[in-house]
Amino acid sequence: VELHVSLRGRRDLAGQIYQQVRSVIVDGRLQPGQALPPSRELADRLAVSRTTVSAAYDRLSAEGYVAGRVGAGTFVAPALPVDPPVPRADAHRPSSGPLRPRPEFAGLQLRADLSAVRPAYDLRPGMPDARLFPYQTWRRLMSDQLRTTAVGAGAYGAPTGLPELRGALARHVGVSRAVRASADDVLVTNGFQQAVDLVARVVVRPGDVVAVEDPGYAPPAMLFRSLGARVAGVPVDAEGLVVDALPAAARLVLVTPSHQFPLGVRMSEARRGQLLDWARQRNAVLVEDDYDSEFRFAGRPLDTLHAMDRDGRVVYVSSLSKVMLPTLRLGFCVAPPSLRDALEAAKFTTDWHTALPTQAALARFVSDGTLDRHIRRMRGVYAERHRVVGEALDGRLAPWLRPVHSPAGLHVTALLRSGSVPHERAVVRRARALGVAVPGLSESAVRAPRAGLVLGLGMTPVERLPAALDRLRNALAESRP
Ligand SMILES: Cc1ncc(COP(=O)(O)O)c(C=O)c1O
Repeated sequence: VELHVSLRGRRDLAGQIYQQVRSVIVDGRLQPGQALPPSRELADRLAVSRTTVSAAYDRLSAEGYVAGRVGAGTFVAPALPVDPPVPRADAHRPSSGPLRPRPEFAGLQLRADLSAVRPAYDLRPGMPDARLFPYQTWRRLMSDQLRTTAVGAGAYGAPTGLPELRGALARHVGVSRAVRASADDVLVTNGFQQAVDLVARVVVRPGDVVAVEDPGYAPPAMLFRSLGARVAGVPVDAEGLVVDALPAAARLVLVTPSHQFPLGVRMSEARRGQLLDWARQRNAVLVEDDYDSEFRFAGRPLDTLHAMDRDGRVVYVSSLSKVMLPTLRLGFCVAPPSLRDALEAAKFTTDWHTALPTQAALARFVSDGTLDRHIRRMRGVYAERHRVVGEALDGRLAPWLRPVHSPAGLHVTALLRSGSVPHERAVVRRARALGVAVPGLSESAVRAPRAGLVLGLGMTPVERLPAALDRLRNALAESRP
């Protein structure tokens, strides 16, 4: 490691070096066994004599902080002479420093590290089955990109994305979702969330009203608030977002028409037409979140809002989080021509472009048919899980839960017959105690919480589902309405 030491003046230089290296060891930034820079190198870098650095290292060694190995250098000792100091309780309290973030960033409820939780039975929604991802193919495609010949000069690329990837994605959504797009219409992003960020940056001003579904997927609403927008939750019924309940001033409306998150309903054709008319009259932007529509197990899919749009006000956003892996942070949008230059500029000013080796690997993954094959395989896997969960909801879970029937997607939602949010919380807590992770529907509320459970199909193999659902039944039976 290039250890940072800064010297002030010319007094007690050895003492200053000793103090700084000691504090790096004591607070754990340098771990036991890690090497200190060779004394000659550090002396050169700090423009001091080697004797000065050696004096500091000798003192650290005498006190047991470091150990030297002849010819090998100086290393942090395996066992430190004193316990590291206990961090001050208020060290991370927002009030403990002089700097203040904008108020929009105070109190945002962030997601925990979802990978850190490993329940015995995982019914959390929104995550695909990562165990079945074609790692071998992806590894080969990625390693092909990490060669001098592929990387070339290592220069920055175009903000919109690699041309071959934009073309491959345009063909992919053209076939699978009948979204009419050419390569020029596609902007490659770091997941759905970044696409929404870019759209909001270019069309939403602080103070504008942005409408989201209630219940809905929380991260975009947090994003809009952080940009200074006022977020309005709009109810969802059996036909999808209730267009009549949209606030007249909404500048942007975010919807999940194919598979409402989290209720699971599909927006009816009539409602889609009504929403497009509404947006035309109000000159609003519609953002279509098509996050898991590839997983349709029965019935005919409806056209996307994008395909019904006649005057260029729908931004279609797709994520690769469900069909590949959420950890790759990949997504893209198809935007109307009037927003394209601004979105390109927003992407450039935000992070210039999405990682090029990953984009090149994805281009091959899509164009050689691997993505389609993986989706087809996973559709079969999830259809089976969907059937097992559906049978349980119509059978042993029916005394407590009323399912929202939906032939699509990576989760199934069921309303609690008791209608009680405290009951839902008790069920979720009891389920957790029995080893089952499942979120309550009320956790997705913007304003009007409804009681229910959102059962994810991605994380639990079909052979473990019956045991998970039995435990859930016990949690329901043991929790008072
Ligand atoms: C409704 C909805 N939209 C989009 C996404 C995907 O977001 P991203 O591409 O940022 O992972 C998710 C993931 O959970 C989701 O539930």
